Amino acid sequence: MANKVRKLTLVLLCLIHYLGPSSQLDTLVQGQELKDGDNLVSAHGKFKLGFFNLTRNNYYLGIWYNGKHAELENLVWVANRDTPIFDNSGNLTIDDYGNLKISHNGGPPIVLYSAQDASNTSAALLETGNLVLSELNSGRQLWQSFDYPTHTLLPGMKLGVSRKTGHTWSLRSWISSKIPAASSCTFGMDPKLTNQLVILWHDIIRWNNSQDNILTFNYNFSYVSNENEAYFYYHGEFEWGKLTLDDWGELYDDYNFTLANCGVKLPECRNSNDEFYPDYGSWDAIDGFEFNEGDNLTLLDCKFKCLNNCSCVAFASTIEDTQTGCEIWSTPAIFGPHSNVTRTIYFLRAFGNQPNGSEGVKNTWGNRRQSNKWITIFVAVVVILITLGCFLCFAKWIKHKAEADRKKKQKMLIQELGGGNVIPSTVHDKVKKQNNDGQASQELQIFRFESISASTNSTKKYLLNWEKRVNIIEGIAQGLVYLHKYSRLKVIHRNLKASNILLDEDMNPKISDFGMARIFGLKELEENTNMIMGSYYGVLLLEIVSGKKNNSSHYFDQPFDLVGYAWQLWNKGKCIELIDPTILDESCPPSKILRCIHVGLLCAQDQATDRPTMVDVVSMFSNETLQLSSPKQPTYLED
Ligand SMILES: *[C@@H]1O[C@H](CO)[C@@H](O)[C@H](O)[C@H]1NC(C)=O
Ligand SMILES: *[C@@H]1O[C@H](CO)[C@@H](O)[C@H](O)[C@H]1NC(C)=O
Ligand SMILES: *[C@@H]1O[C@H](CO)[C@@H](O)[C@H](O)[C@H]1NC(C)=O
Ligand SMILES: *[C@@H]1O[C@H](CO)[C@@H](O)[C@H](O)[C@H]1NC(C)=O
Ligand SMILES: *[C@@H]1O[C@H](CO)[C@@H](O)[C@H](O)[C@H]1NC(C)=O
Ligand SMILES: *[C@@H]1O[C@H](CO)[C@@H](O)[C@H](O)[C@H]1NC(C)=O
Ligand SMILES: *[C@@H]1O[C@H](CO)[C@@H](O)[C@H](O)[C@H]1NC(C)=O
Ligand SMILES: *[C@@H]1O[C@H](CO)[C@@H](O)[C@H](O)[C@H]1NC(C)=O
Ligand SMILES: *[C@@H]1O[C@H](CO)[C@@H](O)[C@H](O)[C@H]1NC(C)=O
Ligand SMILES: *[C@@H]1O[C@H](CO)[C@@H](O)[C@H](O)[C@H]1NC(C)=O
Repeated sequence: MANKVRKLTLVLLCLIHYLGPSSQLDTLVQGQELKDGDNLVSAHGKFKLGFFNLTRNNYYLGIWYNGKHAELENLVWVANRDTPIFDNSGNLTIDDYGNLKISHNGGPPIVLYSAQDASNTSAALLETGNLVLSELNSGRQLWQSFDYPTHTLLPGMKLGVSRKTGHTWSLRSWISSKIPAASSCTFGMDPKLTNQLVILWHDIIRWNNSQDNILTFNYNFSYVSNENEAYFYYHGEFEWGKLTLDDWGELYDDYNFTLANCGVKLPECRNSNDEFYPDYGSWDAIDGFEFNEGDNLTLLDCKFKCLNNCSCVAFASTIEDTQTGCEIWSTPAIFGPHSNVTRTIYFLRAFGNQPNGSEGVKNTWGNRRQSNKWITIFVAVVVILITLGCFLCFAKWIKHKAEADRKKKQKMLIQELGGGNVIPSTVHDKVKKQNNDGQASQELQIFRFESISASTNSTKKYLLNWEKRVNIIEGIAQGLVYLHKYSRLKVIHRNLKASNILLDEDMNPKISDFGMARIFGLKELEENTNMIMGSYYGVLLLEIVSGKKNNSSHYFDQPFDLVGYAWQLWNKGKCIELIDPTILDESCPPSKILRCIHVGLLCAQDQATDRPTMVDVVSMFSNETLQLSSPKQPTYLED
């Protein structure tokens, strides 16, 4: 019984494995709940949706880069930035009417989409980072997270305004690195001048796209204006992916390169190298000067207040929990320990009393990460080099464009195919773990083909009798046919070798390690399948029959690899010498084994067009009367 269950589990895991997508869902359907700790993962695993907390008592629903921590840099969207949930009771649901909402214990649900008419809807996290709610019957899109940007702009998102509803698309800075709530800095379209991108501090323009071209140089923004809407957007071409507006009002790219910011013009008394150091502790000082403006000043506002007051040497929020309110201190303030209040105070670097060991925060033109001057020089150099390069490489450009088109089509195709994960990590990791520790206590016992075939003892070598090997060969062939022909995504495994063939306890083969797998467009697929795969499969076949590794030339006293050696033997009519002696002893007809070598050599032929397809290979095994052509010279593959 237990064995049966185990086997079934394995079959299911394999199905998932072969089907491509990870076992994590990318879609939430009506009636389902996504609790704290649950996630949706986009089809190819780029983005993850779930609940996160950056402080103990504030929980949010967000989308971030899968595999990274849910923090400002990696988050691309926060559903409830201004309405945190105070415990981990939050759950995202689609109710019977089709509403998308976050339910929690602390109050009424946070409604993300409210349906006009009851309908059956589902929400999918796309590979673009967009969470899309659509009606099941019609497929009509009802709501998308891209319409509610928070602090990150991704390719395809809009910055602008809907002329019909007045809805604006813009980025807003966070209150602090731990508090995603909307702060005082905005990146979006100028409300007054619709063809201009601006960064606003409150409603004062700090930057516009005509005054600085670094941003517009790197990000090819397009402007669209029609009767319904006016907006900017960019494609995600080249490496430029996202733009993030952080808590200090800095707009930076994937490389932490600050492109523009919400900074103030410094008074003369300030030096552009002035830096503030945060220090968290029980601090207080005499001479605090509190700005009481409804306590709604953000930390960024407070920094600007301090910078603009020439005697100011430190600043802090008055309310640590919400990071609102503002207090500033002037020289000669004396800071000392204070019993009750624990908070972060930002000290000017030049001020003697600053604590040590803290990370520096630069004061002005943002650049908490790099020095402004050097960036300017660096950018200038890069720009000059790029410009030069452009002239020199004009001819190449055309080629690049074609390549970009190709990639785009490929992407579209992948989307049309409905997505899928090439790296079924859950299964794979499990398998890997078991391989490493080799514990029988794990739920599945899995071996690498390589380790068994290399094993000289007992108990293991007999496991690989001829019958088992045929089973493995056919299993791999069928798996490949599946991957090439029937899986939702057309996958070419480019790293097919003995060490990537896993065997379960019944010696059924599984193909693993899709780390190098590539996804191809349909047309390319036809061309590439045989080219890339055929030879690898041929080598694998010869390895399985001979029980030797392709590169182990020392076995043969010959300067060849396994394929070359097999080819030599074939020409001499002595193929039988290639066969693993342990299987020759068995009562199996050598003709069958020789047929395998024959197929292996056909697959390994130098000319890709000569090689049989994996479908042909499967029929060569299943139909033993099928005449095989003579193999031609093989490709000498390196391991
Ligand atoms: C998030 O909340 C949990 C308790 O639910 C807590 O253990 C954890 O430290 C919190 N994370 C942060 C960053 O404070
Ligand atoms: C999700 O929220 C709904 C409404 O508050 C509640 O009925 C349900 O029990 C919650 N589910 C979980 C798993 O907390
Ligand atoms: C919504 O559609 C799904 C899939 O077709 C179905 O399983 C579910 O029962 C439907 N829900 C309602 C409330 O009709
Ligand atoms: C954009 O910025 C430049 C440089 O600061 C300024 O001269 C120009 O007036 C600004 N344009 C608008 C429309 O604000
Ligand atoms: C910028 O985008 C536009 C519209 O998408 C496109 O036509 C143009 O070729 C792009 N320019 C560059 C340099 O990529
Ligand atoms: C950007 O900065 C963050 C922290 O500020 C760091 O974790 C990340 O690795 C940096 N990224 C790059 C590409 O330097
Ligand atoms: C701060 O509060 C005052 C009134 O309390 C309000 O008029 C002002 O708009 C608020 N400012 C911000 C940035 O929220
Ligand atoms: C500058 O800050 C000091 C306290 O640190 C305060 O007394 C003074 O009024 C401030 N000046 C202005 C112009 O706000
Ligand atoms: C500091 O805390 C103590 C108790 O912990 C309290 O009695 C006292 O009033 C507090 N002082 C201030 C200034 O809040
Ligand atoms: C700086 O760090 C050292 C060692 O941690 C400590 O002894 C010293 O008191 C610190 N200085 C200040 C000004 O905090």
